Order: sequence, then structure tokens, then C-alpha cells
Amino acid sequence: MAPPPEASDPAYVTGAATLRSAKHTARYSKARKDDPGPVAPRGALPAEVMETCVISYDRSVHDLAPAVARLLKRAGPAVGSWPDPDRCGDLEDFVVPAQSLRDSKAGSCDEAQAHLADVVAADESRGGLLQSFDAFVCERVLPELKRRLAACGALANEHEPVRFWYQRPPTLRLQPGPSTRFVRAHADADYGHQHGELNFWMPLTCQSRTKTTIWLESEAGAGDYSPLDIAVGQVALFHGTSRRHHVPRNPTSSTRVSIDFRVGVEGYFDPGWSMKGTRADHSRMQVML
Ligand SMILES: [Fe+2]
Repeated sequence: MAPPPEASDPAYVTGAATLRSAKHTARYSKARKDDPGPVAPRGALPAEVMETCVISYDRSVHDLAPAVARLLKRAGPAVGSWPDPDRCGDLEDFVVPAQSLRDSKAGSCDEAQAHLADVVAADESRGGLLQSFDAFVCERVLPELKRRLAACGALANEHEPVRFWYQRPPTLRLQPGPSTRFVRAHADADYGHQHGELNFWMPLTCQSRTKTTIWLESEAGAGDYSPLDIAVGQVALFHGTSRRHHVPRNPTSSTRVSIDFRVGVEGYFDPGWSMKGTRADHSRMQVML
């Protein structure tokens, strides 16, 4: 059987696989070997808390897709547009210009990413992405994380106050296709992230249309990658600092849109630390719950 037309005719063949609203700025530095590491009085996060899991949320309460669509509508031509005005708002149909993903050395990728990062960071209005994100994190994600900490004995009970640091703004990622580009396997420790953080990853587009999702290994170094089975209306928790992950190419002409962020947990996370030779590329909000 002949492959689908889009699979044999990729529109994206150079540069980055995704346009993202933040970028890793970590560079190898000889100073890294002398880094004393973060101070974590409680040591390593409990294994039960680091276990990959998928958390469902109520889309009638916490749907970030409409705010993302509004943001993309005004983001400008370097980020992309909807070719069909009648389907404006359907995130899978959003088109990112191939030029905006080209080799960052040529500048275009860096410029488009920096612009998208600025648009996300400025979306503070009521009903905008950041307020919706804050509500989602504080009302759904952190209480769930707190329950998990209490369940494994890391907290005396669910009422014990605990401090969290969550990445704000979150990272918005657009992965258009059909593409030959992919995100190589890596652990976030490679980019200066510390053990006491957890990663959260949520798709805003249907995997049945984009045919792509993030792949994770089950344990650090296991190399047994499997695709994350997750739907819109769910957010995955995983320990991306130690578990390697990658994203295969998007073979379809639908764009994958996702949001991800990290959360540091008091006692396990050092808010004052950044690896020598790296520059922090995410700002964080501190909350006590
Ligand atoms: Fe990563």
C-alpha cells in the first residue's frame, strides 16, 4: 500500500522539530565537574512519587486550549497562522512556517522562539494562558502531587503545608508536520535540571490526528522507551531529570501542541541552585499548599 501523501512529502526537513516558547541554554562547561550540586535536606524524591503516571482533569474547568488558540491568533506570522479562517482555533490545523524552524545558527529559529516566549510571558490578562495555567497547577496538579507525597509517607498527612516551585510561564511546544525532524533522547539532567523536580506534560491536540507523542523510558538508563498513552484532558507526571525521553517526527500534516512545566518540591529541590556553566532558562513561582 502506498504511504499517505504527507509521509512521502515532508514540509519540514531542516532545523528544529518543535517551535517552543523557551529554550535550553545549558552549555558544557569545565566548571561543571566542580559543581557542589543542589542542597536537598530530604535527599532523593521517593520512588513512588517519581513513578510516571497520568492525571485526568476536568476540561470544563481547566481547558488551556482556548487560551492557547487566542494567544496563537495574535502571535504573528513568524509563529504561524490558520490557513482556513473557518477552522481558526482548531490547534491541529495551526501552521508553523518552515522558515521559523530552520537552523538556529541562521537566527530564524531563535527569533521565532524568543518571540513565542515573549507572547506567552505577556499573556497575563484575565482568561489568558497564565491565569488559566496558575489555576490548573494550584487547583489540580499540586493537590494531586501533595496526595502522592502524603501517600508514600513523605508528608505526615495531606494537611501538612508544603512549598512548591512551579515553572511559570510553562513551555508551549508546537510540532508541525509532515516532518523529518525529531527530538533526540535526553535526560533533563543534561540541561542542568536537578533531581528534586518533576516534569508535567500535557497534550492539547489529539494523538489520533498528529500520530506523535512523547516517549519515555521506565527507569533511568533502562532504554526501554514506550510512547506515553495520554489524551487531551490528561497531564502526565514523570521524572524527566533522570528518565530519558524523546519525541519522534510528526508524520502527519496536523500540528502537535503541548504544554510542559516542572515542579520542585520543598526538601528535595534547591531553588537557589543552578549548575555551573548553565544559565537558568525558566522562572518559577513559589507557592505553599
Ligand atoms: Fe526534556
